[in-house]
Amino acid sequence: MDITILAIESSCDETSASVCRNGKILSNFIANQTVHEKYGGVVPELASRAHLQNIVPVVDAALKTANCNLESIDAIAFTQAPGLIGSLLVGTQFAKSLALALDKPLIAVHHMQAHVIANLIAEERPAFPFLCLTVSGGHTQIVFCESPVKMKVIGETIDDAAGEAFDKTAKLLGLPYPGGPLIDKYAANGNAQRFKFPEPQIPGLNFSFSGLKTSILYFLQNAGTTNVYKEEFKVTEEERKKFIEENLPDICASVQDRIISILLNKVKKAAKETGVKDVCIAGGVSANSGLRKALKETGVKMGWRTFIPSFEYCTDNAAMIAITAYYKYMENDFADLSVSPSARAEW
Ligand code: KG4
Ligand code: ZN
Repeated sequence: MDITILAIESSCDETSASVCRNGKILSNFIANQTVHEKYGGVVPELASRAHLQNIVPVVDAALKTANCNLESIDAIAFTQAPGLIGSLLVGTQFAKSLALALDKPLIAVHHMQAHVIANLIAEERPAFPFLCLTVSGGHTQIVFCESPVKMKVIGETIDDAAGEAFDKTAKLLGLPYPGGPLIDKYAANGNAQRFKFPEPQIPGLNFSFSGLKTSILYFLQNAGTTNVYKEEFKVTEEERKKFIEENLPDICASVQDRIISILLNKVKKAAKETGVKDVCIAGGVSANSGLRKALKETGVKMGWRTFIPSFEYCTDNAAMIAITAYYKYMENDFADLSVSPSARAEW
């Protein structure tokens, strides 16, 4: 019997809908919200309003492309947590209303677990157990994944997420939000060895990015002369701007290189401790070309098999919600209509 699932993702500023049949993605539509650009970050209230405007056309498009109608859907899935509560509410209420009206089962999906399971969309997949480095705007985690429905976080950031490290650096450089993709672009033409930023010494498999952020702030305040706080070395605003303008690719490449080495050194440690040889990445930051390249090179050196979702499944999308829901459907893991969204969520 075929199992066809309609999934909705609305945890942050992307409204997305996808249809999957028997674990194969038939459609994946994403409406990006450009309204936040001028504010330098996502404005929660504007995000929920944009979700309300986008959700019907996006679901329609996903159904049409998959050549489906609502009657041929076997279950409705949605992102239940974590995320912005107003944004999550739109997707949750929409999914619940559809499930009630159509009398179909409802499946609640954890957004971060779905990022990991995005690695099961492609034909070539990791074998269980595998490790996944999940790097997004709000999270940085190393996940030990035993099955599509059983996974645990074995390392995570104690302060900023990797995506925040990219976005906050971009802000300091005067680049618009979200800055991660722009740093990636400039870094491609830069010398990563030119400037040195510190690697934090955090015990175990946890990460920290707040020290790096401070070091970049001092480095720019001093126009590259030092990344230690020194009042007397402070330069004028014009000198700082000129330094950034003249050295942007090298600064971006050096910062990106340090973020990548912080991430991959912990993944190496996790692989050694667990003995796992299949290593994946997921989340928005896994779209970073430097990280993708470095993971592949590290994999060759360490004897790992490495897996990276295609670009459209790295940043927020409903296809990853649909595929996770498919595995939950197989386990009869359904939600009832009393389910509510949660901004934070335990695994
Ligand atoms: O997973 P995601 O789409 O949304 C969250 O759940 O947070 O991740 C968004 C994050 C942002 O911080 C964005 O700057 C970062 O992913 N990002 C990148 C790249 N593309 C997106 N960071 C570095 N390089 C990229 N190419
Ligand atoms: Zn995400």
